[in-house]
Amino acid sequence: MSMKLPFINNKQKKETQPSDLENTPDHVAIIMDGNGRWAKKRGLPRIAGHREGVRVVKDIVKTASNHNVQILTLYTFSTENWKRPKSEVDFIMKLPKEFLDVYLPELIENNVRLDTIGEVEALPKDTKKVIQYAKDKTKNNDGLLLNFALNYGSRFEIMQAIKQIMTDIDGSKLSVEAVDEEIFSKYLYTQGISDPDLLIRTSGEQRLSNFLLWQLAYTEFWFTDVLWPDFNEETFQQAIHEYQLRKRRYGGI
Ligand code: IPE
Ligand code: IPE
Ligand code: MG
Repeated sequence: MSMKLPFINNKQKKETQPSDLENTPDHVAIIMDGNGRWAKKRGLPRIAGHREGVRVVKDIVKTASNHNVQILTLYTFSTENWKRPKSEVDFIMKLPKEFLDVYLPELIENNVRLDTIGEVEALPKDTKKVIQYAKDKTKNNDGLLLNFALNYGSRFEIMQAIKQIMTDIDGSKLSVEAVDEEIFSKYLYTQGISDPDLLIRTSGEQRLSNFLLWQLAYTEFWFTDVLWPDFNEETFQQAIHEYQLRKRRYGGI
């Protein structure tokens, strides 16, 4: 009995209390969903939810840094989100400026590098300008990589990669035999970035909505009913903690 108890306690400790920085995810991707429902619950217009969502982004960047996360990829606007009413899309397109006007100095101060994945070229001129400015200002920072998925769609990304590979084969820059998973990855927006270790989706939906289909092949998924504007340090910590308890096998044993 006296032999058994400490053993059980140790085991429990190991399974439920990994040390804070042990086995933390290097790359966390988040589908920030539920802004509209958050606003609706309060009788507010959907855009009020988007504004609140921006505030949460700022807090989560800080929390991610504190938890040793190296890359934070945030799904901000999908290629399908253009289907929304023009007034909502117009509002969302102004948010990068609103965010960066206030927080860019803080990002710089905290050594954050800002980048994007997606067809940023197709965004409104002013939105593009402010994003490019922030990218330039932070390009030499080597702290957290804050990666915004903007006008991002995974099927489009994969299709573009295939087209470019075919063009390069046609132009004799690449041979069919040389194409492997590593080469293919270099044709994606995420070239040079490790695959996400942890994917979080808020708001209770359990789908990918065209997000990182190739890159999430072996990622751990974590879903929460919390709506994005209510997501906070505690929710983030819970996700990280549960990730730390997962056993990743990659097809092995
Ligand atoms: C996520 O919140 C933000 C974007 C997709 C731009 P939603 O706007 O999708 O909020 P819900 O899902 O309608 O509540
Ligand atoms: C996914 O959320 C896109 C972003 C969070 C930017 P959506 O709200 O667009 O996804 P669906 O339509 O519910 O699948
Ligand atoms: Mg949604």
